[in-house]
Amino acid sequence: MASLYLSTCRAPVNIAVIKYWGKEDERLIIPTNDSLSLTLSIDDLCATTTIAASPDFSKDRLWLNGKEESTSTERIQNCLRAIREAAASRSSSPNPEWKLKIISENNFPTAAGLASSAAGYACLVASLKNLYGLEGNYSSVARKGSGSACRSMFGGFVRWHKGIQPDGEDSIAVQVAPSSFWPEIRVIICVVNDVKKDTGSTSGMQRSVETSELLKYRIAEVVPRRIEFMAKAIAEKDFDTFARITMQDSNQFHAICQDTYPPIRYMNQTSWDIVSMVHKYNSKHGSNKLAYTFDAGPNAFLFCLEENVPEIVEVLRTQFPSDSTDFIRGMYSDDIARKTNLSSALACELTPLPPGSLKYVITTRAGEGPTPIQEHLTIE
Ligand code: DP6
Repeated sequence: MASLYLSTCRAPVNIAVIKYWGKEDERLIIPTNDSLSLTLSIDDLCATTTIAASPDFSKDRLWLNGKEESTSTERIQNCLRAIREAAASRSSSPNPEWKLKIISENNFPTAAGLASSAAGYACLVASLKNLYGLEGNYSSVARKGSGSACRSMFGGFVRWHKGIQPDGEDSIAVQVAPSSFWPEIRVIICVVNDVKKDTGSTSGMQRSVETSELLKYRIAEVVPRRIEFMAKAIAEKDFDTFARITMQDSNQFHAICQDTYPPIRYMNQTSWDIVSMVHKYNSKHGSNKLAYTFDAGPNAFLFCLEENVPEIVEVLRTQFPSDSTDFIRGMYSDDIARKTNLSSALACELTPLPPGSLKYVITTRAGEGPTPIQEHLTIE
């Protein structure tokens, strides 16, 4: 073999607190509004991508979670083309004309319905950037793979500016605050038992743009105002306001789904049980200590501060009984959580729901953007 260049990165999942829902340009993936998210730690959820470049390869090839997939989709082609052009204009090595082998894996089950495309495309672009030694903000390239992927190019709180240029070159993600800015924030992901296939986000948001009056109002009136309040709440570490806006924005997104014609339903009964549980919890505390947000599926992403995690985990155990030995996963072990006793006032509010409606819970925190690593993936 003449020469082989290798690059491997890990990239994170992100969860939006001001949602992206709607495109102005379908092909370039230019959104109808700005959005804002928190990047989650790659210790608990991540995509890993290895890219090999060699003059001996005859065509680009891609393996996703062990299965060979086509590289000829428009989204993958757009990402590869943009990076190769940037590499060619900087005379980078390896030669950008050499063909690539791309191996990508998620460390979480795709079936869990977590944001795998965001982490996956961010990882593809980060690994390509690393392969060719490129510097700078390549979030607009990740955006061409999947809109929300551009926000996974940075750690901490990230804002995706929709931009004003018709070519989308200024539709980029920018870090608002690093994860170290508010280190006490925790994220508890409730993976809901649900077998139903959802309407994908791409087609769902397209239908909302075509039919929802409420989405027009959201784009013109709500997001421009709300995103500034959200940025301020983050800057002031005002969890009560951060939590309220997060919940309101999730609720508006799902209201738009219902306002879409024909309507789209992502949240199920368990999702709504979680919503009730969060509001009960907050009213017992007299302020918002817990927030929920839901994407294009029934799973809940809960935000809280570290000091409340043991109590919240106990609330989840009480409300959603489970036989599973690894019901609580991620950074907090069952042992830590088991030590907490709920106050009787809180406990009597929580009627246990039928066992098994929550598959498991992942406890995690905010984290960094894509990171190069030295261990490369191989094809089995
Ligand atoms: C509900 O980024 O998956 O998660 O750009 O068509 O690939 P495409 O859509 P995608 O949409 C994500 C929508 C969301 C909200 C969000 O992450 O902001």
